[in-house]
Amino acid sequence: MNTIEKFDKHIMHSYGRYPLVMQKGEGERCTDENGKTYIDLGSGIGTNSLGYCDEKWADAVCNQVRTLQHSSNYYYTGVQAEFAEKLCETSGYDSVFFGNSGAEANECAIKIARKYSFDKYGKNRHNIITLINSFHGRTMATLSATGQDVFHNYFFPFLEGFINVTANDIDDLKSKLDDTVCAVMLEYVQGEGGVNALSQDFVNSVYDLCAEKDVLIIADEVQTGAGRTGKFLAGEHFGKKADITTMAKGLAGGVPVGACLTTEKCSGVLSAGTHGSTFGGNPIACAGGIAVLERINGDGFLGEVNAKAEFIRKELEKCSEVESVSGLGLMIGIKLKTKTASDVAKKALENGLLILTAKDKVRLLPPLTISAEELGDGIRILIDILEE
Ligand SMILES: Cc1ncc(COP(=O)(O)O)c(C=O)c1O
Repeated sequence: MNTIEKFDKHIMHSYGRYPLVMQKGEGERCTDENGKTYIDLGSGIGTNSLGYCDEKWADAVCNQVRTLQHSSNYYYTGVQAEFAEKLCETSGYDSVFFGNSGAEANECAIKIARKYSFDKYGKNRHNIITLINSFHGRTMATLSATGQDVFHNYFFPFLEGFINVTANDIDDLKSKLDDTVCAVMLEYVQGEGGVNALSQDFVNSVYDLCAEKDVLIIADEVQTGAGRTGKFLAGEHFGKKADITTMAKGLAGGVPVGACLTTEKCSGVLSAGTHGSTFGGNPIACAGGIAVLERINGDGFLGEVNAKAEFIRKELEKCSEVESVSGLGLMIGIKLKTKTASDVAKKALENGLLILTAKDKVRLLPPLTISAEELGDGIRILIDILEE
């Protein structure tokens, strides 16, 4: 049996996959089992933030594997302490809980918001407002939080206590922000929802209204965080800092990690025994995370991310098939005039280019470290397909 046949036989069919068997990767390119190479402008949905097998990152991870691969959270490890310190310093937050994925980070955020409110105001103030078209994960709570009906099938009953409002509609938010609400949860740029940034006015109003009522703001930066948008956190573009921010994807460069960051206000909400995760704060993930943070904090790193983002946007604007380009930094959505995003992604694969889609758009999440040359080649392939 070949690899695809083994997948078909033994792995649940919960993903629609492209017919590509990845074997190895280096920098911005991966190689399939037949030796064909691909420029990857998707980076594992923004997870391989430093590209494939970055040398310093790989050294850090491998050294950690050979030193201490796991410790239960009954004990302390230096590597988790260092990652937490660096992450809090870089993000400006006070404390963090580590899990293993974006959904887990969001679960933690939901629990913190509800307990913060319960501790201070008692019962019946547990509702969380989320935005239509949002995506917050695949666990029962995060699916319930996700503001897309398409995700609300089969798995009934969903968790109670999530109220959806239309993104960028301040009146809708005002009408639903009553005394039962403990938090508003948002993505500054909705990734899976189609790479749509919130408006500054809407974000301002959310912050103002929530401050008046001591309603917490949870920023889901699972996709937008860790330098993806050209700032460490996308909230910085809006001049805002949420009470709780969640991160995952690119934060540890490809080893599983989730982080739920809080300001001082919520740092003490989770007391001993109220939350936990066997693998959370795993030393290997933390070593990967430290390597990513050291790189992002290096001189000029985010400046280069922004320069590359500008290059892509300028090139795409010249393309006659492109209707519009959305997103922030290296989180890019491309609305097409006549072609479908899924056809373009299939064609790109044939031509040695990996790209993503989000709703009806082509989506690019290149490695933050992609070289100008490989980026230029990748965009050329894409534009040639679009103009065919
Ligand atoms: C904004 C956002 N939140 C949460 C998630 C869920 O993350 P994970 O798949 O790591 O659980 C995703 C994944 O795409 C995401 O984009």
